[in-house]
Amino acid sequence: MATRSRTQAPAGPVHVAVIMDGNGRWARERGLPRSKGHEAGAESVRAVVRACRDHGVRYLTLYAFSVENWKRPRSEVQGLMQLLRRFMDKEEHLLHEQQIRLRIMGRLEDLPKTVQKKLTRVMEKTSHYNAGELILALSYGSRTEIATAARRIAEKVQAGALDPAAIDETVFARHLYIPDVPDPDLMIRTSGEMRLSNFMLWQLSYAELYTTPVLWPDFREPQFAEALEAYRLRDRRYGGLSSPVKRERASC
Ligand code: IPE
Ligand code: IPE
Ligand code: MG
Repeated sequence: MATRSRTQAPAGPVHVAVIMDGNGRWARERGLPRSKGHEAGAESVRAVVRACRDHGVRYLTLYAFSVENWKRPRSEVQGLMQLLRRFMDKEEHLLHEQQIRLRIMGRLEDLPKTVQKKLTRVMEKTSHYNAGELILALSYGSRTEIATAARRIAEKVQAGALDPAAIDETVFARHLYIPDVPDPDLMIRTSGEMRLSNFMLWQLSYAELYTTPVLWPDFREPQFAEALEAYRLRDRRYGGLSSPVKRERASC
């Protein structure tokens, strides 16, 4: 691997998005119920939130529950919702200590009322923080997000508030769930799966993808640091050519 001085090092990612996968397999390997895997996964969430501050990652998006996950057995879904509420009760202080703003991306209205209330309250209480943002993707589906954006745009056009000729990528992106957050620079998926599972299809267009066989409950600060290091060695060309520094490095 090429060595490099600190000045040559590309900046770390500003926004990291994570598909937290493998809780069930982690539990099965230990002969435990799936719920234990989700509980252990909550510990990893805590560890990665803390690690973001230490590594200068400003935005962390965690895929916690997809629109498709409603298909799981009722008992598992209920357990996950309960865990989410408990996690918020227990970890809210972390957001206040670190001045992190909580945001939700997805169909919040699908969640049980008590969970909605808790999340809304924490979002309100943390809305003025600006040291970082924790974005939880809950009842999230990227196709739903894109279709909803298209509907909102169509409604504006119908109401005469938007000229169809003005619809471009920027205007479209402004109608997605959290338009003011920059696209993820790095997308991590744990547990070795090589798919997006309906996650941020629009926003991940130019993200660097990193997959690891590590199961989410085993993914902690050292594994996160490893992913960030892998990111720093990437050459983001955006369809253009390598930067001179990268070309030089590649020829070392
Ligand atoms: C990820 O772990 C958590 C959620 C999707 C809620 P899984 O529950 O998908 O774990 P595996 O993929 O079955 O191991
Ligand atoms: C993706 O994991 C969703 C979350 C991590 C919340 P899944 O376990 O639901 O994805 P598939 O079913 O393996 O694609
Ligand atoms: Mg899974």
